[in-house]
Formats: sequence, C-alpha cells, structure tokens
Amino acid sequence: MSQYDVIIIGAGPGGYVSAIRCAQLGLKTAVVEGRETLGGTCLNVGCIPSKALLHASHQLHEAEHNFATMGLKVAAPKVDWKTMLGYKQDVIDGNTKGIEFLFKKNKIDWIKGWASIPAAGKVQVGDTTYDAKNIVIASGSEPSALPGVEVDEKTVVTSTGALALGSIPKSMIVIGAGVIGLELGSVYKRLGTEVTVVEFLDVITPGMDGEVQKTFQRMLKKQGLSFVMGAAVQKVEKGKGGNSVTYKLRKNDKEETISAEVVLVATGRRPFTEGLGLDKLGIDLTKRGQIATNGHYATNIPGIYAIGDAIEGPMLAHKAEDEGMAVAEILAGQKGHVNYDVIPGVIYTHPEVASVGKTEEQLKEEGRAYKVGKFSFMGNGRAKAVFAGDGFVKIIADAATDRVLGCHIIGPAAGDLIHEICVGMEFGAAAEDIARTCHAHPTFSEAVREAALACGDGPIHS
Ligand code: FAD
Ligand code: NAI
Repeated sequence: MSQYDVIIIGAGPGGYVSAIRCAQLGLKTAVVEGRETLGGTCLNVGCIPSKALLHASHQLHEAEHNFATMGLKVAAPKVDWKTMLGYKQDVIDGNTKGIEFLFKKNKIDWIKGWASIPAAGKVQVGDTTYDAKNIVIASGSEPSALPGVEVDEKTVVTSTGALALGSIPKSMIVIGAGVIGLELGSVYKRLGTEVTVVEFLDVITPGMDGEVQKTFQRMLKKQGLSFVMGAAVQKVEKGKGGNSVTYKLRKNDKEETISAEVVLVATGRRPFTEGLGLDKLGIDLTKRGQIATNGHYATNIPGIYAIGDAIEGPMLAHKAEDEGMAVAEILAGQKGHVNYDVIPGVIYTHPEVASVGKTEEQLKEEGRAYKVGKFSFMGNGRAKAVFAGDGFVKIIADAATDRVLGCHIIGPAAGDLIHEICVGMEFGAAAEDIARTCHAHPTFSEAVREAALACGDGPIHS
C-alpha cells in the first residue's frame, strides 16, 4: 500500500505534463498507464507518428516537384515503405523514452497497468490498491464509431491503422474532411495513393475561417485529392475488389457507392473512460460523454479531477498539457489557469493551416464590429524563394480599439507563425503593436506584420 499526494491516470500529454509539474511543485506523484509505453495517443498513435509520415512524404514531394527547378538532379526517388515505417517508429521510441527519462529525473512512479477508481482516494491496478490524496483522470480519447462501419484496422482503419498499413494502397477513401482525414489523406496522396474524401458537410474542417476553408480545399484539390461533399456515409462493405462506401447526398437524398482498397474512418474522437468505474463512483458526465468538471478541473466527487481529451474543449495535445499544468498548480495550492480564448489550432498539411481566436463568421454571429488585415504570401520574398507563395495571413481586429481578436494563416510555417499572435493576444495587443514591431528580413513572419499593417494604413508589399 503506497500513499501519494497525486495519482494521475493516463500518461498522454495531459497526464505526463501534469505529473512533471506536480513533482516540480513537491507533490509525491505516480502515473498509471496501461499502454506499454508512455506518451498516450499523441506520442504513440497520434501527433508524433503522423508528423513523421507528413515530413517523409513532403520530402518525397519536394524531390519529385521542386528539386529539378533548383538545379538538383537526382534519380527518381523510390519509396521504401518498410524503412519509412521504421523511421516513424524510431521517432516514436525516441519521444516515449524521453518521457521515461523525465519521469525518472522527477522521481515520478510509473505504475504499469489499467486503473480503476473503487472510491475517492483509492486507485486500483490489478490486485494492488494505492492511496492518493488526489486523483487526476487523464484517460484521453478513442476514435468514434460510425454506424454501419466495422473497423478491422487492416483495410477499414482508424488513424491508428492508417499509421501502420502493410503497404501503400492504390486507392483510399477517407470518411471525414477533418484534421485527421486531411493530414493522413495528404500523406497517402503524396505517396501515390488515389485519395477521395467523403464529407458530411459542404465545407472541410468545420469551425475554421470560411476563407481559409475555401483556399485550403482548392489547394488540396490542386494536389490531387478528390472530394465528395455533403455526403452522409451509410455503410462500408467488404468486397473482392476492396471496400465499398455507400453515402447519401444530402442535397437530393441520392445514394451512391464508391470503392477503394482502404477506407480511413476519421469522423471524430470520443472520451475514453472505460474501466475506470465512473458509473459506480457517480461521476457526472456531459451529454457528449465527457467527464464534467468545474472551472478548476474538479469533478463532482471531491478529490477527483479530470483533464485533456476526457473533458470538454478541443481535443488537442497542447490544450491537454496546459490543463495538466493548471491542475497541478491548483493541487499545489497555486492559481492554475488556462486561457481558452487563445488556444491555437494547426493542421500540418502542406501548406500548414493555423488559427487562433475568433473567425469572421463567429464575430458576425456575435454582431461585433471588426476589421480585417490580409496579406498574401505572394508578396513575401522568402516564401517566393521556397515555392510557398500560395496562401495568406489574415488578422482580425476590433473595429474601434484595434485589439487583435483572431488570426488565420494558410501558408509556410503557419503553425509557428501563429504564436506571435498568440503571445500578442495574451498581452492584449493591438494590430498596430504587431505592425510596429521590427520583423527580420527575409522571414515568413514579415507576412504577419504586413497583415497587421493592413489593419491600419496598409501593407507595404501589395
Ligand atoms: P491521451 O493522449 O489519449 O492519453 C491517455 C492515456 O491514458 C493513454 O495512453 C491510455 O492508454 C491511458 N489510459 C486510459 N485509461 C486508462 C486507465 N484506466 N488506466 C491506465 N491508463 C489509462 N493534437 C495536437 O495538438 N496536435 C497534433 O498534431 C495532433 N495530431 C493527432 C493525430 C492523430 C492521428 C490523433 C489520433 C490525434 C492527434 N492529436 C493532435 C490529438 C492529441 O493526440 C490528443 O488531443 C492528446 O493526445 C490528448 O491527450 P490526453 O493526455 O488527454 O490523452
Ligand atoms: P474532426 O472532428 O476534426 O472531423 C471529423 C469530420 O468528419 C467532420 O468534418 C465531420 O463533419 C465529418 N463526418 C462526421 N460524420 C460523417 C459521416 N457519417 N459521413 C461523412 N463525414 C462525416 O475529427 P478527426 O479528424 O477524426 O479528428 C479527431 C480529433 O483529433 C480532432 O478533435 C482533432 O482536434 C484531433 N487532431 C488534431 C490534429 C492537429 O491538431 N493537427 C491532428 C489530428 C487530430
């Protein structure tokens, strides 16, 4: 029997970051993880492996399309899929072992196995019961099931299967034009697969700025991805020639069927809370099955907290990490806090897409007066030098005060550029503050400054 200040269930970005912060703040901390390795969905079957494959396939694209223009003559590149998967696994291993090292360094106990909570203050793993003053549930999420679709993770796959296919398929149908569908669809398109994306709505990446959605879809089509929009998938059936997907077009109720070697189901994720014993404990859930928490990550049962994908809010690794730090600070008697108005979202396609804060659509709905400053990467010398002139930066500022309310970028290094705006928003910056900040030349970040200038007297290079 061991007594801990905190036991965290789950070693994903929420759980492992929380554990490190708890230990740094002097709390005796243990983490229970059922997987063989630390790091959760993100490091094992999510963010990290998908970025490794995005990187490798982008290098292939560069070699095929841009090397010759720059005077680099190489033989036609060939894909060795087994080696590419090996590289992806090495990247995963390096990262998960890194977390093990950090646990040892911070004297965090890793309890291996699946946890349940028999009562407040008690965590059971196998036959052992551990005592904890506080318990943090960071059990993450799993792919949502789609009625009429049976996943075998071989030819009808979720993202997990798509990251480890036996071979590169000739054709793939992606169900859902959200983040997973477009990132992994891009990977396979670049590797030579015919990719068709079937989406329920009339737009891709729901919730994103409308102008970005249109530009993004245009760029993806140019890259060779096909789209069937406004189509509700009814069923997936296995046949001799592959898998057939039947969908109903929402505009006329017409049913159509298309086939492909592999079907990727990417229609969202749901909280994973199986086996924890939440029912017996009487922990409140939201209507969508998330663990209900107050503003301080406390559930309705004293001493039990929850963070990350298992609670409401965007299912993002950095959101889970920030909540992990905040709950640790709260448990240590400090004032942990997450600013949900400034959580960036990034899609790691090529080009990248990044956003933070309000979209024009949201502001219109709220009836708020705003102004828009936009700048095309065509006017950015660095972007033109690296074949990345397609795309733009759009800053939205309050019409009266000039305060930055949101930013939407599609273009080179968008996922890094967005953080200038995040920091600015945290400090309550006006667009003019960004416009008056000297930006190094030649950098992509000059496009952000130009968009800020466009909120005032106008950009220089357009
Ligand atoms: P998780 O990472 O899901 O970790 C939860 C852990 O808890 C798991 O390891 C699980 O085994 C363990 N666990 C659950 N129940 C128990 C139990 N009872 N006992 C013991 N252990 C338990 N987000 C981004 O921000 N950027 C990205 O680029 C990105 N890419 C993604 C790509 C893909 C393909 C996917 C699927 C997701 C991606 N995400 C990305 C989302 C991101 O992975 C999640 O938001 C993040 O992992 C959530 O962290 P978490 O700690 O809440 O949960
Ligand atoms: P998602 O919610 O982003 O997209 C799902 C899409 O599927 C939506 O466009 C939806 O309209 C569509 N859809 C739903 N039912 C359908 C049906 N029956 N037929 C056709 N289309 C249908 O979910 P996704 O892509 O599965 O990602 C899950 C989570 O993982 C997201 O919340 C995301 O935040 C996270 N993630 C984040 C990444 C990043 O930050 N770069 C990368 C990958 C995942």
